[in-house]
Amino acid sequence: MVTVLIYGVLGFILVMLVIMTYNFHSLKKSDDANLSQEPGQQSMLLSQGFIYTALVLILILIIFYTWYVVRGTPWEGHLAEWLNIVVRLMHITFGIAWIGASFYFVFLENALNRTEDVRDELAGNLWAVHGGGFYYLEKYKVAPPTIPKHLHWFKYEAYFTWISGISLLFVVYYFNAKAMLIDANVLKLSAAKAIAIGVGSFVVGWILYDQLCKSPLVKKPILFALVGFIIATAFAYAYCRVFSARAAYIHFGAMLGTIMVANVFFIIIPAQKAMVRAARQGIPPDPQPGKNALARSLHNNYLTLPVLFVMISNHFPSTFGYAYPWIVLAIISLGTAGVKHYLNLKEKGQYNVWVLPASVLILLAASFITAPKKDMGACNETASFAAVNQVITARCISCHSSKPTDDVYTAPPNGLVFDTPADIVKMKAQIMQRVVITKTMPQNNKTGITPEERNLIRCWIDQGTPIK
Ligand code: HEC
Repeated sequence: MVTVLIYGVLGFILVMLVIMTYNFHSLKKSDDANLSQEPGQQSMLLSQGFIYTALVLILILIIFYTWYVVRGTPWEGHLAEWLNIVVRLMHITFGIAWIGASFYFVFLENALNRTEDVRDELAGNLWAVHGGGFYYLEKYKVAPPTIPKHLHWFKYEAYFTWISGISLLFVVYYFNAKAMLIDANVLKLSAAKAIAIGVGSFVVGWILYDQLCKSPLVKKPILFALVGFIIATAFAYAYCRVFSARAAYIHFGAMLGTIMVANVFFIIIPAQKAMVRAARQGIPPDPQPGKNALARSLHNNYLTLPVLFVMISNHFPSTFGYAYPWIVLAIISLGTAGVKHYLNLKEKGQYNVWVLPASVLILLAASFITAPKKDMGACNETASFAAVNQVITARCISCHSSKPTDDVYTAPPNGLVFDTPADIVKMKAQIMQRVVITKTMPQNNKTGITPEERNLIRCWIDQGTPIK
């Protein structure tokens, strides 16, 4: 009864908020026609922002409440999966929009024609053909004589990427902290502490980076990049000493992503607002905030590829499964940022021959150091299937069986079951990769597999997986 009531209230608020967004839309239209004054428009935009924020918060509240209702039932896992699907899709969509815009504007800046036929008030222009039409863009040195009524801003893709990303972090890692976030073999932590460390680290990361940007070091780009890289590596190392390797990777990416969004929120957008305000008042804007904003958006541009790698890293156990996962993270961050640097130089017409090969070599180094050892030791005795099956029964089937007994996984993860010998044999390559080479299974070694048992499995696979 209470449940229905709470859903009723939340649903009512949600519907009201949605109706308000429509009202605002039509208000704005009539407002456009009246060419109303700026202060009114400003406050309207502000309240519109509030309504959208409230809308998102109510949605989150409804989801939280649903989770509270289904907690402990088979629907909990199902809800988690569908939340995962929805939030992940949103995250990818907003992320693509944001990073696409970031790439596009850095490209514009790099490729701008600054010399031929450029009017005095312009920094440059650019012709482009796309989607069956010709486009012509002009960039002003400072601001146009009058600020156009319809000015496109690029900020919500960034904010929503972050909001959906943090939500995903909760759905996948924090709601399931015991299985996904904490690895007792790395550090024994309570869920609350681990989550606090995770969230706190984003704030610390931003403060450190922001201070670095405000220090004199910012005038020395190479030194700045070096110090930034060292700090980032320190974060990677610290995460790997606190969380499970996968969670450490995701936190590294989320920390960088948070810096990128904070750049948009605290530096870039305020600078743009100040520019617009000054232009409206007809006074020359202070160029410094604009310069800072440009620098920060360039930083963001360099962070995109490392962050993108992190976001797909969970599919690649050879990266987070390496004995020193933070080294792989540092190497791949460096290499991918290098690739971005090459692309940026190329857009400016500066073909720097060594940047791309050097970056590729750096990336190859990650592949090299994570490669399986050639000689993993001799197998003196014949490994019997009976012995292997015993290990699988003791260490794997609590999760990987049609009826798991694990406290977290009530359905076999990835649908993978080891119910029959054939089930085991057909997965031999993946078992080799996950149990022997990367040691990423059993998950967080929850079932306490021993090195000898891993070795037994290796020998059995090396000997051709005999079942008898
Ligand atoms: C605590 C639960 C748990 C235990 C115990 C466990 N696993 Fe897993 N396993 C998972 C989860 C969760 C996934 C999916 C996520 C991933 O790939 O890491 C998975 C994925 C896998 C995969 C990858 C499947 C694919 O689709 O590529 C293999 C192979 C695997 N496990 C083998 C094993 C073996 C062998 C054991 C025992 C030595 C074992 N697991 C023990 C939870 C477990």
